[in-house]
Amino acid sequence: MGKKTFYVTTPIYYPSANLHIGNTYTTVAADAIARFKRLTGYDVMFLTGTDEHGQKIQRLAEAKGVKPIEYVDKIVASIKDLWEIMNISYDKFIRTTEDYHKEAVQKIFKKLYDQGDIYKGYYEGWYCTPCESFWTETQLIDGNCPDCGRPVEKTKEEAYFFKMSKYADKLIEHINNHPEFIQPEARKNEMINNFLKPGLQDLCISRTSFDWGIPVSFDEKHVIYVWIDALANYITALGYESGNEELLNKYWPADIHLVGKDILRFHTIYWPIMLMALGVPLPKHVFGHGWLLVDGGKMSKSKGNVVDPVVLVNNFGTDPVRYYLLKEIPFGSDGLFNNEIFIKKINSDLANDLGNLLSRTVAMVEKYFNGVIPAPVEKENIDNELIKLALETPTKAEKSINEFKIPEALGNIWALINRANKYIDETTPWILAKDESKKNRLGTVLYNLVESLRIISTLISPFLPETSEKINKQLNIELTTWDSIASFDGTRAGTKVVKGEALFPRIDVEKKIEELNKLKEEQMKKVQNKVNDIKPIKDEITIEDFEKVDLRLAKIKECEPVKDANKLLKFKLDLNGEERQVVSGIAKYYKPEELVGKYVVVVANLKPVKLRGELSQGMILCSSTEDDSKLQIVTIENDLPTGSIVR
Ligand code: MSP
Repeated sequence: MGKKTFYVTTPIYYPSANLHIGNTYTTVAADAIARFKRLTGYDVMFLTGTDEHGQKIQRLAEAKGVKPIEYVDKIVASIKDLWEIMNISYDKFIRTTEDYHKEAVQKIFKKLYDQGDIYKGYYEGWYCTPCESFWTETQLIDGNCPDCGRPVEKTKEEAYFFKMSKYADKLIEHINNHPEFIQPEARKNEMINNFLKPGLQDLCISRTSFDWGIPVSFDEKHVIYVWIDALANYITALGYESGNEELLNKYWPADIHLVGKDILRFHTIYWPIMLMALGVPLPKHVFGHGWLLVDGGKMSKSKGNVVDPVVLVNNFGTDPVRYYLLKEIPFGSDGLFNNEIFIKKINSDLANDLGNLLSRTVAMVEKYFNGVIPAPVEKENIDNELIKLALETPTKAEKSINEFKIPEALGNIWALINRANKYIDETTPWILAKDESKKNRLGTVLYNLVESLRIISTLISPFLPETSEKINKQLNIELTTWDSIASFDGTRAGTKVVKGEALFPRIDVEKKIEELNKLKEEQMKKVQNKVNDIKPIKDEITIEDFEKVDLRLAKIKECEPVKDANKLLKFKLDLNGEERQVVSGIAKYYKPEELVGKYVVVVANLKPVKLRGELSQGMILCSSTEDDSKLQIVTIENDLPTGSIVR
């Protein structure tokens, strides 16, 4: 019979920006579970990847002046680098832009359409043309687009819909019959009460307003809604609808989808309904973990409080970051990331508890036995408590992991570490060493410490893989299998220890915090100045090209808002005695009365157009930031006759 299998997934991340400590958290947790399962004898499939389609990515790429695929390629590479740095042992990385995934998603869509679960209808709502966005009545702000403040139009767009409602009762029944399906428990009730009980609406699952997505194979002007595309990754990665479903047969249904609480709804409602409609069994567990908060609350780019895992690893190493995420954040609830608590934990749990246990043990084996691990020939009752705990801890840790209680598993392991430290104090080897007749007893104490460390090193390997390797090196340990820690005799007496560097050098908390604050200030400055995030310079032109544009100086005589168009201002300009009317979308930045009397530069030979019914005979030059948060008109300092050429 083959090995038992275990399939664990992370969400697939949006490659819209580099990942932060919050996204890293999900992946590190999944990695710890995957490694633990491998250690305990499972054949594991650990999947992660990137969710690359959708309007947001398309817009970001456009703003940068690059193709969407070029934009995502760059970020995906940095995500893969991050997983390398964090020591993530994924078995497969899926990108939704890969052909096999796209083809499988098209087949899924077609299948659901053919069997009548997807139908074509109309999406009715409000549309903001410049933003290409649909909004519901309640999302509008003062009747305008919540993004740009411009007026919206009532729209009817052809779209495909998924008959979610058809499966709602079956899903409620599944959730009730499988209380372990949605975890933690509290989130299950939230899903049922907030989303399922009020009734499911059919879901709009195609868009025609942008094209960065997977086209509907039989109606190519539609692209498939990004969540349908993304959720399918969990089965397409295993070959669903690819002609070779070997991996799917082996690993599906997933043992656990690990996701943040914000996307639990998609995984416990849309996803199971998709699977039910496809006749595919549902995943065994979906676990919604909490959010990682920083001191000021949620992380956000504009607040400049985004915690970059790469900076942390560069300063403290990979395992301290993994340890903090896995041990200090209650798995399932929100938790805090705080530099001071983080550094103090490194000093107490890693440097003091674990690091000292190893360095004291190795130093004593060197000092009293020339580095050769002695045989345990003289046992005493006082040893029993340590040995008993060492033998119980693997089972305890396994139980915690099977219940997805990661901090509890680490708590159990640290109880053993602390028990071993206490054993040193109880047995006082330095006193035994003074009495030659106690040599055998001293040898037994040291053997027990080395053996405890062998078990500890094996147990921490899923969580702190690098540290585990370092311990094995110093103690010359070869046996780190799960079976080998079921008995307290795996260390071979006669083996030589190899003293190495301290596992975790102690950190000066105040000094380090100061350093980190400095780094943060620099990061903040970068955010504020954003010197390097502008559109690329356009292709070269000749002076003749430039001279086609007739730029003139004009003076603002009158300025007023345009009725029913929040963004627009209407100007009367004086251009060498000629009155020109110009409409400009700068109402967000200026009050009309501030502008009257100012000189502006206008494109004087631009073909006139009508904007919101008002004639616009030219364009006023302005300069704005990349995100349009700031804008200023181009003006001149002193009087010049209007109509003067600008060149
Ligand atoms: N692309 C979707 C997922 C599709 S899965 C079929 C997505 N991507 S995401 O990049 O925005 O988020 C990925 C994960 O990061 C989510 O599980 C989300 O909860 C998690 N986190 C984002 N910020 C977080 C914190 N501050 N703390 C913890 N997790 C957070 O959603």
